[in-house]
Amino acid sequence: MLQIEHLGIAVADLAAANALFARLSGAPAYKVETVESEGVSTSFFKVGPNKLELLEATRPDSPIAKFIDKRGEGIHHVAFEVADIRAEMARLKAEGFTLLSEEPKRGADNKLVCFVHPKGTNGVLVELCQEIR
Ligand code: CO
Repeated sequence: MLQIEHLGIAVADLAAANALFARLSGAPAYKVETVESEGVSTSFFKVGPNKLELLEATRPDSPIAKFIDKRGEGIHHVAFEVADIRAEMARLKAEGFTLLSEEPKRGADNKLVCFVHPKGTNGVLVELCQEIR
């Protein structure tokens, strides 16, 4: 693990949340991106060296829609940047963690991503991400 890359926050209304987080952080989102395969629209804010990702569902069966139905808006995941996502996936699997996909997927912000099931991580959804170069 290299660093905490971003925190993901589930929101019901991305446009409203973009305006709110722009006021909160003092700068607008630097990127807005829809990942249709995952059923999410996302936006990214920089705060010093750190990032926040806001996520809105694009359809009712989106993981974000399910999360908000169950738990309401709020912190959805913690993303760790890794140098070699396949190696980290193999390592975590060997450590007994449950991965939500067998292969890395294309995520937002030019990343390969894989999620770790929150049942094995004290209720925290963990994202591994590797920059695509
Ligand atoms: Co994320």
